[in-house]
Amino acid sequence: MPDTLTITDNRTGSVYEIPVEEGAIRAAALRQIKVDEDDFGLLSYDPAFMNTASVRSAITFIDGEKGILRYRGYPIEQLAVESTYLETAYLTLFGELPAAEELARFEHDVTYHTFLHENVKTLMQGFRYDAHPMGMFVSVVAALGTMYPEAAKVDDPEVRLTQAVRLIAKVPTIAAWSYRHNKGMPYVYPDNELSFAENFLSMMFKMAEPRYDADPALARALEVLFILHVDHEQNCSANAMRAIGSSKVDPYSALAGAAAALYGPLHGGANEAVLRMLGQIGDVKNVPEFVDRVKAGEGRLMGFGHRVYKNYDPRAKIIKETADSVFEVTGRNPLLDIALELEKIALEDEYFVSRKLYPNVDFYSGLIYQALGLPTAMFPVLFAIPRTAGWLAQWLEGITDPEQKIARPRQLYVGEVERDYVPIEGRAAGTQELVGV
Ligand code: CMC
Repeated sequence: MPDTLTITDNRTGSVYEIPVEEGAIRAAALRQIKVDEDDFGLLSYDPAFMNTASVRSAITFIDGEKGILRYRGYPIEQLAVESTYLETAYLTLFGELPAAEELARFEHDVTYHTFLHENVKTLMQGFRYDAHPMGMFVSVVAALGTMYPEAAKVDDPEVRLTQAVRLIAKVPTIAAWSYRHNKGMPYVYPDNELSFAENFLSMMFKMAEPRYDADPALARALEVLFILHVDHEQNCSANAMRAIGSSKVDPYSALAGAAAALYGPLHGGANEAVLRMLGQIGDVKNVPEFVDRVKAGEGRLMGFGHRVYKNYDPRAKIIKETADSVFEVTGRNPLLDIALELEKIALEDEYFVSRKLYPNVDFYSGLIYQALGLPTAMFPVLFAIPRTAGWLAQWLEGITDPEQKIARPRQLYVGEVERDYVPIEGRAAGTQELVGV
């Protein structure tokens, strides 16, 4: 059988044969389908890209039905146990696991780029005392672009690599300083003797001690969370990174836009909602009543369900195990018992089973962050640190893709047809409608 799709246009009776490649048709192939010579050609309408592949990508593979997540072909379960965040970042960026000397060089380069220009400190000090750390993060990443004007040369591979290293190295410093700013505490400079996760914890929590010694179990837990959050293929922020990057702007500006997309509660904020929900339930004995309310349509079980995963989110499984190692050090988070009971009931309940609603990455991650002493406003910032590697990999793949052009979707225009300008004295009041209000 040929790998083609035969389309009959019932408006004209014309028949078209369109190639099917890698399970897809090229939307541009529809343009030949016209009712007459003046017709622009058939468009496909797909709000939210529900069934549109906007790129060909070799970075991340997800099978939502089976609960599979792989970076560059490596299962997330293996990376979470065997790898480090920087090694996974290298894999994501370069496509292969590094040899020992390659990893050592990458770790060295990232470690020696963790410092921020002193002017960044002044910039951050200008924010109000209670500025949201994610708002600070977005702004400071954009501001960094002004300090590296050569970053505009996005067609130069050397320049691109330097910015990638800089960004991966500097985002933890920005994140930690935004936290210290909220606390009214002095900013802590990076310590080049520490690992990526240890250094981040030091910049967050160091007080007067000469060196901050993070508990190894907590540093490893953070490292695992970082590995799990590196990439998740064409999600809202990755799509923003690629779309902005397609204009060939510098990667700092593109990454600030991606981080802004992550800031939204539908993307990076669900784990905060989980904590709020667990706090509202308040006690294990209230769980059945809460589940009944969810089933009756009064709110959602936060941290459950996913647009892509129709099985247990593989990241949630790993996070649940990681939570145990954290609670051994910090003591059990009292909300954990409520979470476990919720999960137990939901996984047996017909409502959740029939809709394939399983715990997602956010169900347990907030509990860990809380046990590490991190305020909820920091949760999206903690997501942004490792996702920086994923955003950069998506950006690099896009910028080097010969098929990439500036992102520019089409629209179906549904507004007024042409009409003549009306002088002000001829207009009636109250006819305007502000869309979205
Ligand atoms: N609790 C109760 N019912 C739910 C839930 C939930 N968490 N999620 C979906 N449903 C029901 C929904 O009411 C609908 O039922 P019905 O068919 O009777 O109308 C059915 O399941 C399908 O839901 P949907 O809204 O069409 O599914 P979606 O793919 O558009 O939504 C989702 C995915 C993640 C937005 C949704 O499951 C949700 O709101 N979950 C809670 C919020 C959350 O945990 N978000 C984090 C997602 S993971 C983040 C990441 O990977 O970056």
